[in-house]
Amino acid sequence: MLIRFDGKTVIVAGAARGIGRAIARAFAADGANVIACDRLVAEIETGERIQALPVDVTDAASIDKVVAAAGGRVDVLAYVAGGVLGQGPKPLEQVTPEEFAGIVDVNLKGCFLFARAVAPGMKQAGGGRIVTISSRAGLATSLTGIQAYASAKHGQVGLVKQLAQELGPFGITVNSVAPGFMATSPDYERQWNSYSDDFRRTFADRIAMRRMGKPEDIADAVLFLASDHASWITGQTLPVTGSPLA
Ligand SMILES: NC(=O)c1ccc[n+]([C@@H]2O[C@H](COP(=O)([O-])OP(=O)(O)OC[C@H]3O[C@@H](n4cnc5c(N)ncnc54)[C@H](O)[C@@H]3O)[C@@H](O)[C@H]2O)c1
Repeated sequence: MLIRFDGKTVIVAGAARGIGRAIARAFAADGANVIACDRLVAEIETGERIQALPVDVTDAASIDKVVAAAGGRVDVLAYVAGGVLGQGPKPLEQVTPEEFAGIVDVNLKGCFLFARAVAPGMKQAGGGRIVTISSRAGLATSLTGIQAYASAKHGQVGLVKQLAQELGPFGITVNSVAPGFMATSPDYERQWNSYSDDFRRTFADRIAMRRMGKPEDIADAVLFLASDHASWITGQTLPVTGSPLA
């Protein structure tokens, strides 16, 4: 199976850090023209086929500018933005509505806004691919212990199913990849460092494949779902966790 994206335009939303950066790199390596956007635009790795743009995924007007820069024609949207915004686990009664909403906005509302912005062009073109990065926390309880994170990622998994149903008749597939824990960004490194030595030492032994995941493991799954070879797969969330999901 040969997967190439020559001549295709791919937006990677949330491209500055580990997983998004690996996805942008992988698409460019397979021939795509990549628009890599993030609020941390200075941290985006650019390249011959990777153009960096600023975006706030919680702001529809900011997203429209990115889609306009793609000439309105987007073959693939990879929605990666999200994470825990520097938050840690707290008892429910100490979580403020603003903290809860912040995580929901970036992980769920942004996904809705971005899909909404690319759908008209994809419909006009007769097809497209939307692949989101949800999480194992979208299918089970979250290791982060953050209520909003599990809620938002579960919401994203639902949004993917619903959009798949709606956009299928237009040749557009909508899928998600659900990564397991990997130390990619400052937030995840903070989470990793909060675990006991014993927990960290034995973490990989509790994974069926006996190793931690890498951003490239996620990028490989995203590229397959974005390829022509996945034209009859839609509405699915693929756990990429190195283990069967318990
Ligand atoms: N690392 C893990 O263990 C893990 C596991 C499962 C899922 N995920 C998900 O994978 C995705 C990527 O995570 P990561 O680990 O590479 O690092 P991360 O959580 O730091 O990545 C989030 C990216 O989204 C960007 N972002 C946040 N708010 C934004 C906004 N309002 N506008 C634009 N960009 C914004 C950040 O700048 C960052 O580049 C996230 O959605 C995260 O929830 C990560």
